[in-house]
Amino acid sequence: MKERVLSGMQPSGYLHLGNFAGALKNWVRLQDIYDCFYCVVDWHALTSNYANPSPIADYKHDMLINFIAAGLDPNKCTIFLQSAVKQHAELHLLLSMITPLGWLERVPTYKEKQTEIKDKDLNTYGFLGYPVLQAADILIYKARHVPVGVDQIPHLELTREIARRFEFLYGKGILTEPEPLLTESPKVVGLDGRKMSKSYDNAIYLSDTPEQIDKKIRQMMTDPARKRKTDKGDPELSPVYALHKIFSSPDEIAHVAAACKTAEIGCIDCKRILIKNISKELEPLWSKREELTGSPSMLKDILNAGNRRAAAEAEKTMELIREAMNLS
Ligand code: TYM
Repeated sequence: MKERVLSGMQPSGYLHLGNFAGALKNWVRLQDIYDCFYCVVDWHALTSNYANPSPIADYKHDMLINFIAAGLDPNKCTIFLQSAVKQHAELHLLLSMITPLGWLERVPTYKEKQTEIKDKDLNTYGFLGYPVLQAADILIYKARHVPVGVDQIPHLELTREIARRFEFLYGKGILTEPEPLLTESPKVVGLDGRKMSKSYDNAIYLSDTPEQIDKKIRQMMTDPARKRKTDKGDPELSPVYALHKIFSSPDEIAHVAAACKTAEIGCIDCKRILIKNISKELEPLWSKREELTGSPSMLKDILNAGNRRAAAEAEKTMELIREAMNLS
């Protein structure tokens, strides 16, 4: 029997290159190896967008199109919507009974996001409980592996702690401690050198046109010491180089690094190579997206079938959990 994998993405914005290179590409590879469950976590999107939920429907649609366009195959993996599987909410509630407040307050993303996101009030019960809902998503499928970017490691560690506490309290061998599965690019930087994120306005989106990508990369900052083309630079100080390491060939990476250090090429030349490579990587996805945009009923069918399969698996675990907690 194949081991189980679960992962999720929040439809809190359009999918970007960080989601693609940090997670989605890996998801596609794993569907041939494991029994994979991939979830559009729309309840999670509400934890920070509760005041303005209307764009979430559009983001969900974009996400599903990108999942399929990137190569997820509904015959090989289960693609589903979190809010369609109510058992996640039930397990979230039950796990919240056993999760100490201190554990949640110590999760680094809790304080970080509250400080960095100024235009939303994240001082809510739902936002604090975000990682408990994530733990429910994972534990309900008894997933062994969770393919994510490095930013999700603290959430995974908390999930493991919650699973251990459940087992300590009820001791029934029901929950499995999951392990993270990182990609080769677990942290993709954004246009400003910080982590690429929907919340930081620094992302290249999978739905951007080639012209938008060209413009965004041309405007990227590079090593501040390179004011003129003749100034020698340090590629490690440039987020453009960080993106080269993900999207360019080994020869090109070596070439741009050396030519930056000797001022043999200017930043615009270096950016042109990156633009070409990102476009090359995304072209197959763009043409598949176009095909899929014309088939909304196919997407609906994929999701309905995935929701049914996920709910059946989730219910199996919930029956054991209800019994362990004397609820059945
Ligand atoms: P989300 O929606 O922010 O991101 C989805 C996935 O993309 C990865 N990622 C990145 N990887 C590399 N570089 C980046 N700049 C970058 N930005 C995002 C994330 O690590 C993630 O793998 N809490 C989760 C959603 C979630 C989940 C789950 C994940 C809910 N339930 C259960 C796994 C299992 C999140 O906000 O991901």
